[in-house]
Amino acid sequence: MTKHITRDQSDAKPRIHRDNTLKFFEQRAARAQELGAIKAVLYQDKHPTLAEARDRAEKEALLPVLDTRPGDRVLDVGCGVGRWTSILSERCSYYHGLDFSPGLIDYARRSHAHRTNVQFSVASADDFSLSSLGSQAPFDLILCCGIYIYLNDEEIVSSGRCIADAAGHNARAIFREPIALKQRLTIKDHYSEELEADYNAIYRSKEDLMSLLSLHMAPAGFKLIHDAPMYDDPALNNRTDTKQHFFVLERS
Ligand SMILES: C[S@@+](CC[C@H](N)C(=O)[O-])C[C@H]1O[C@@H](n2cnc3c(N)ncnc32)[C@H](O)[C@@H]1O
Repeated sequence: MTKHITRDQSDAKPRIHRDNTLKFFEQRAARAQELGAIKAVLYQDKHPTLAEARDRAEKEALLPVLDTRPGDRVLDVGCGVGRWTSILSERCSYYHGLDFSPGLIDYARRSHAHRTNVQFSVASADDFSLSSLGSQAPFDLILCCGIYIYLNDEEIVSSGRCIADAAGHNARAIFREPIALKQRLTIKDHYSEELEADYNAIYRSKEDLMSLLSLHMAPAGFKLIHDAPMYDDPALNNRTDTKQHFFVLERS
């Protein structure tokens, strides 16, 4: 397998392949018991506490922004092991997590089997609808954490359309993503020593990510109402080329 890191020059946009990304997440699912659920999806495998610290900081900062209401129906796109499932299903009337990894969804289902207002589906972020999810009503709150770096540009556009079609009239959509600080960065079939696996991801600027998502979401009435860096504590961002950021879009 070719292993290289591409720092895109001019308008060259290398693609990543979904089969390779899926293989990576199936490996993470297989190691979830050994690594622990949080590390399985937030990584930092060689660091004893960073993933857990990020999980806490993210929930502390995003919960007020999510502004959950008891009657809310929540869709968690790319839900992984269901890191957000407990906290959201306890605050809202219904939680639905979707992820393209059967292994991660199996883990999420087993961990939350006792919850009566929770459902999970194996589905791709760029190819779902209310009817494919078996959902009776639109969603009020859509959460997407750390998934768009695994999609090519046109797949993000399609995902924005799926979200807009599945969202209710006054829905909010919250995105938390690592953002490229300088130029677009594609990691393609690169063996990561830390993750002990081949890794693929595309890091985009804030503007690029928002313009791809907005292509269908803006005409559907979604507006960006807030965006900010994810962590106040600089120690939680351990990369120099990328930084975690969140965006809140609201439909009115
Ligand atoms: C970094 S993990 C984050 C998981 C979860 N959102 C969280 O914050 O705990 C990225 C997740 O995106 C999922 N994913 C990647 N590409 C996807 C796709 N095309 N459709 C659905 N899920 C996808 C992976 O399986 C994985 O669960």
